[in-house]
Amino acid sequence: MYDLKFNPENYQIKRCELDGREVIYRAFENIVYCANPVSAVQKLNLYVPEVYYQGESINGYQLHTAPIFAPNTVGGYMEGPAMQVGEDYFGHKPNTAFEALYHGYVVMCAGIRGRNTGRKSNEFFVGGTNDEKSTKEGMLTGRAPALIVDMKAAIRYLRWNKDLVPGDVEKIITNGTSAGGALSALAGATGNAKEYEPYLKAIGAAKARDDIFAASCYCPIHNLENADAAYEWLFEKETTCHRIKFEKTPQGVKKIAILDELDEEQKLLSKKLKAAFPSYVNQLQLQDETGNKLTSDENGEGSFKDYVMNFVLKSATKEKKTLDSQTRLQKLAVPGSEIEKQDYITFQGEEAVAIDMDSYVAKITRMKPVPAFDSLTLECCENEEFGDENVFARHFTEFSMKHSKVKAEMADEEKIKLLNPIPFIENGNCDVAKNWRIRHGAFDRDTSLAIPVILATLLQNKGYQVDFCLPWGLPHSGDYDLKDLFEWIDCLAK
Ligand code: DHB
Repeated sequence: MYDLKFNPENYQIKRCELDGREVIYRAFENIVYCANPVSAVQKLNLYVPEVYYQGESINGYQLHTAPIFAPNTVGGYMEGPAMQVGEDYFGHKPNTAFEALYHGYVVMCAGIRGRNTGRKSNEFFVGGTNDEKSTKEGMLTGRAPALIVDMKAAIRYLRWNKDLVPGDVEKIITNGTSAGGALSALAGATGNAKEYEPYLKAIGAAKARDDIFAASCYCPIHNLENADAAYEWLFEKETTCHRIKFEKTPQGVKKIAILDELDEEQKLLSKKLKAAFPSYVNQLQLQDETGNKLTSDENGEGSFKDYVMNFVLKSATKEKKTLDSQTRLQKLAVPGSEIEKQDYITFQGEEAVAIDMDSYVAKITRMKPVPAFDSLTLECCENEEFGDENVFARHFTEFSMKHSKVKAEMADEEKIKLLNPIPFIENGNCDVAKNWRIRHGAFDRDTSLAIPVILATLLQNKGYQVDFCLPWGLPHSGDYDLKDLFEWIDCLAK
């Protein structure tokens, strides 16, 4: 049993200089945040600008008023170890923890279990059958809903120690990208939801609140049980999958472009999945900002589609008008996404006024096969996320269960729900974060544009503050506009 009392004396003073900027900070590292952890990854790091202990302030924040920024490193539903202040993963720039600390936030980095937690070897892996895999695994203790259980336990640890920890525990902002963006959305959507209680109890989480102030979500890969239909709603006409494979060679990591054609069976499944999407959208009863209903007819046409495409148009207009954003984000953008080259968009002056969706989708290309998330051979990382200690991977949609090509079982309905922020936002039986910032690159094909749009719109319709856009030209990526993110946080927090 670990003691959950924070020790303010157990720290090191560290210094980090990057990009000609220096941070001197108190590092409270490797704190076990739950009394009965099942994995060594369940630790958090807490970082504080050292000047706060000399009574100074940064950006108007002080030791007990600074917001607590909580970035996670989860990707691909893999384990995400607690970030440390330093260079980012690709080593070219200061990481998010450095930037947040430099800006004056207290930074809480929680280590989070994932689908590979408990494996003896930690290499990236997908694919294989249950029979092959089950014999090779250790105890897989990081499958759904472990990631959100761990984040909640870390948040509860801070609240449990609210009088001892630095920062304002009522100003916790989670941040993540992709599966990590989904985790941030879950933290925002499920504050104090009783459904997680048994899981929190099992790891000995502190008895405290776990709602948060704000959620920052980059391209959240969430709403998994509806993501296949949403994908075909957008990509059905595209029958080639374009993906990049990374291959280790003696000369370093090589990027190889892979093109796969959908076969006839996949094309048929795509049509069926697309046909299932309108009923999902329609039962959400979404509205635009003036109260018009957002609906879809049986062909996927209608006000919902226009509304989604309107976000693309807004993004294009902003790109045309804002030279500043071009210079800042251009180097991260997909080659060929230069705004003046997009002939499927009609401009009136600098205003993008019309778009041909099919040509836009052809331009950004399909990435994933059919189904995109719930693989008929259990080969997606999401299938593994719904496995557990006993079963390596499962289906999580009735559709894929019905069309499965392998001996497979269906995930528990309850666990599927615990991994989806949408029903929690719909039902309102918990403390949903009041503030949301959601970003999804306009050239991101890892999930359908409909997925972040549904999240943002549902939140807005329920009365939460939402800052949402599709940054022009950007692929599946995150943390590319931290200056703007921090400005957004400061406006809310001060
Ligand atoms: C991630 C990307 C995916 O395409 C996906 O299906 C799940 C997770 C990721 O980058 O985290």
